[in-house]
Amino acid sequence: MCGIVGYIGTKNATEVLISGLSKLEYRGYDSSGVAVHTGSKLEVRKNAGKLSVLQTELEQQSLSGTLGIGHTRWATHGKPNDVNAHPHASEDGSIVIIHNGIIENYLPLKEALISRGHVFKSETDSEVLAHLIEEKYSGNLEQAVREALSEVRGAYGIVVTHVNHREIVAARTVSPLVMGVGQNEMFLASDVPALLNYTREVVFLHDGDMVVLNDSSYRIMDLQGNPVSREVSHIEWDAEAAEKGGFDTYMLKEIYEQPQALSNTLLGRLQDQTGEVDLELNLDPASFKRISIIACGTAFYAGLVGEYLIEQLARVPVEIDVASEYRYRQPLVSENTLAIVISQSGETIDTLEALREAKKSGAKTLGIINAKGSSMTREVDDTLYIHAGPEIGVASTKAYTSMVSAMLMLALWLGRARGTLDASTGTELLRSARELPRLVEEALSESRVANIKRVAEKYKDARDYLFLGRGVNSPTAYEGALKLKEISYIHAEAYAAGEMKHGPIALIDEKLPVVVIATDSVLLEKTISNIQEVRARGGKVIAVVSDGDTEASRHADDVIIVPKAHEMVSPVVNAVAMQLLAYFTATALGKDVDKPRNLAKSVTVE
Ligand code: M6R
Repeated sequence: MCGIVGYIGTKNATEVLISGLSKLEYRGYDSSGVAVHTGSKLEVRKNAGKLSVLQTELEQQSLSGTLGIGHTRWATHGKPNDVNAHPHASEDGSIVIIHNGIIENYLPLKEALISRGHVFKSETDSEVLAHLIEEKYSGNLEQAVREALSEVRGAYGIVVTHVNHREIVAARTVSPLVMGVGQNEMFLASDVPALLNYTREVVFLHDGDMVVLNDSSYRIMDLQGNPVSREVSHIEWDAEAAEKGGFDTYMLKEIYEQPQALSNTLLGRLQDQTGEVDLELNLDPASFKRISIIACGTAFYAGLVGEYLIEQLARVPVEIDVASEYRYRQPLVSENTLAIVISQSGETIDTLEALREAKKSGAKTLGIINAKGSSMTREVDDTLYIHAGPEIGVASTKAYTSMVSAMLMLALWLGRARGTLDASTGTELLRSARELPRLVEEALSESRVANIKRVAEKYKDARDYLFLGRGVNSPTAYEGALKLKEISYIHAEAYAAGEMKHGPIALIDEKLPVVVIATDSVLLEKTISNIQEVRARGGKVIAVVSDGDTEASRHADDVIIVPKAHEMVSPVVNAVAMQLLAYFTATALGKDVDKPRNLAKSVTVE
């Protein structure tokens, strides 16, 4: 997740860009840069580090001009250094671009460009865009951008300018882009807060939109060049509301960011044709005999999904520990063990200490981590970043679904490399994984969300809740209960559904809502039997079912319908329903979901 800003008008472009970028640092803060049209050329300044580093440089050596583009980076391809910072320029410097997203087919594009004589400076996927546009350019920038994008696959918000044109061309697919409309000035940004110091009239560009900005006008079209019309919205939000993107809370904003976060986790790593996954890891997948997963809280539940997937697909024995227990139980570890730590913050002290313990005992270590440059990333042998973008809400949402997706990719990678997963099953699973951003988008459709809100409000006064799930969705039940506890303070228990009859069934009475994950699965019939056991004892069943279900819903008091997904990827889709159920229960009870009592976002004490 990166932040992008563009400006054309009468003001000092550098000031507008820096002001905009300062509101977007939450989207990434590995490096930042600007390019300003200074009269005869496009001058680029960019540095690794926080925006303040760039700001200091620009104070010492100012850039003067009224057209420019700026970027704050959250690195995906290539280290966070000066060279990989955006903007990226074409060979002769006449074109500059900034990009937010991932160009999935950048490698073949880059190789082809190199064979045609292009020399690349950075390790980024984004730089191919500058070279490709340069190659297509023959006097018309808009046309060149269109032709270049027709060869690109992946996610992008891209902003481009050419030294010979007083215009900015931009386009988006998946990654967000909003245009600000001023008096004789136009703006572009990844998010509204970057614009609010200058204008409240904005146009939210849609997927597949392209826009050409001049000083006082703009044209929006699709990627084929057909004009499209988009409404100008007036933004009423104050600065704090704007940072939440118009949502009431960070948590809700982050729930809705999941399609984008999942694209960032998955795209560029899935090779559809071969069923392979490219994780750019240095680890040798054949070198270990067992895997140990270590994490806390929500990250631990992502690890439980991982345990299931890795054992199923890669046939390696996996054991999993909550980090606070791991180092005190004298685990058996050898150099044949791969210890995987999972953490959003990369700073959780229990997980960090467990990682140190595993290393001391000789294990190879891998981090599945969100926060770049965090302590864990510096101590593990290898890192698989989840690229979910900064998560501010204390209750983890988008980091969870991105962690689960990362575990799926890891299981696929191990399975293919160790020969336990054939190409055709690999390809099928890979296609299902690729569907996840769209399925989650669908899970967040207005009618589905309204239904979950209705269910949450109906049961908001319950004193206790029970969550049940089976197989790969047992952890979905655990995560659902944790989310509800954290933000609504309602007591919730979660069990593997088959375990219910061994004790928890005694809790069931007519006051107890029981959430049962009953989406498509080879074990669905058994889950339906569990639903009947709950009903027979008067419990209120809230069944989470797949589109088209006729069986489980028949026995439920309330139904939450989620998009149909392959069972192996369904924990991601189902988790969204759990998050919304907890969210709307908590808000119906008037709780502060972003700052739940007694909790901290990052737990750095033992
Ligand atoms: O930053 P980490 O992923 O290491 O954090 C682990 C847990 O503290 C965290 O997941 C916690 O359980 C959240 N509040 C869950 O919403």
